[in-house]
Amino acid sequence: MKNMLVTGGCGFIGANFIRYLLEKSDFDGSVVNVDCLTYAGNPENLSDIEERFPDRYIFVKGDICYKEGMARLFNDYEIDTVCHFAAESHVDRSIVGPAAFIQTNIVGTFNLLELARKNQGRLELFHHISTDEVFGSLGKEGYFTEETAYKPNSPYSASKAASDHLVRAYYKTYDLPVTISNCSNNYGPYQFPEKLLPLMILNAFEGKPLPVYGDGLNVRDWLYVRDHCTAIWTIMKNGKRGETYNIGGDTEMENIRIVEMVCDILDELPVPKRDYPRRELVEFVKDRPGHDRRYAIDFTKLTEELGWMPEESLESGIRKTIKWYLDNQEWVDRVRSGEYQSWIKEQYGQADC
Ligand code: NAD
Ligand code: DAU
Repeated sequence: MKNMLVTGGCGFIGANFIRYLLEKSDFDGSVVNVDCLTYAGNPENLSDIEERFPDRYIFVKGDICYKEGMARLFNDYEIDTVCHFAAESHVDRSIVGPAAFIQTNIVGTFNLLELARKNQGRLELFHHISTDEVFGSLGKEGYFTEETAYKPNSPYSASKAASDHLVRAYYKTYDLPVTISNCSNNYGPYQFPEKLLPLMILNAFEGKPLPVYGDGLNVRDWLYVRDHCTAIWTIMKNGKRGETYNIGGDTEMENIRIVEMVCDILDELPVPKRDYPRRELVEFVKDRPGHDRRYAIDFTKLTEELGWMPEESLESGIRKTIKWYLDNQEWVDRVRSGEYQSWIKEQYGQADC
């Protein structure tokens, strides 16, 4: 693995992964990050990396659905490894506007697979990043394993399920060297503040309402993003080609409890104090349509076969995440105001895909 194409590397997990790969891992090759910079992609997330690794990191603004451009890129950079993050990732947005999810998550993945197939002689690995949401919803008991049948419930999860099936089919049909990982809810630095944790941290800090969907008793498993990155790299290096690996944090939690944890930690910190407990900011709002009740993930296979375990506890991970958002107010302001999009327009001529 010398010339790695990372797709969607300006988004939350992709940016953390590139940072991990270049700063901390034993990868010694180069990274080509292709990202078309949707509202969720921000090259500022990696501006220091661009400066510190000028020979090993290159950013290309490009859409994975654009066949000719992506073909040139495979050729010019002699890509031998793909780590595919690029996606529309937010469930609420997929409910309001599913078309972009079909285009990027399904057609975009298909396009990359075709290019990987055309470059198969050189290709060492196509790693596909997916989600536990493809398995649908659990009752009170049980866990998703790699054998659980797919039963996606949102346009987002259905589009990710379709892409997983395509990746698997390219292994079976064309012997393309692939691995797939299905991961639970990530949190940590650089997450766009539309997702539960950054939204609640910022609203609670600012004394704004905390909108909790339905009764707040939906359960998610939370994984600190750095742990996700180490898991991906472990799978890429040592995972068996053609296999799927579940990744989780072993931290099942009801949404309302997560929100209360955030409130309590902020109440303790020497940030401007409020004269009421932040829990009082919680507002139960209309539920998300098709809202999956519970996700819980069994990642025994990854532990037993490849020796990976998450390192961060939920409490320490949330504390670190809160600190990151409070220390990076400028980033938050630019992302929330959309100011970074004007900067992208100046730099790259167009603000969106
Ligand atoms: P994100 O929305 O923060 O980032 C997605 C990135 O993809 C953005 O930089 C965006 O500009 C880019 N992108 C979108 N469409 C593109 C296109 N057509 N061409 C090129 N780039 C494009 O998402 P994330 O949370 O970092 O998720 C990354 C991947 O991990 C996704 O595949 C997602 O399904 C998966 N995943 C996410 C989580 C989570 O909790 N966030 C959990 C499991 C799996
Ligand atoms: O499980 C992995 C998935 O986790 C990833 O595949 C997705 O890309 C990622 O967005 C995430 O999906 P969720 O829908 O679980 O994440 P979200 O942060 O949107 O919501 C987490 C839970 O919190 C969910 O039960 C809905 C609830 N929620 C969310 C928001 C934004 C609220 O109660 N209020 C909110 O304002």
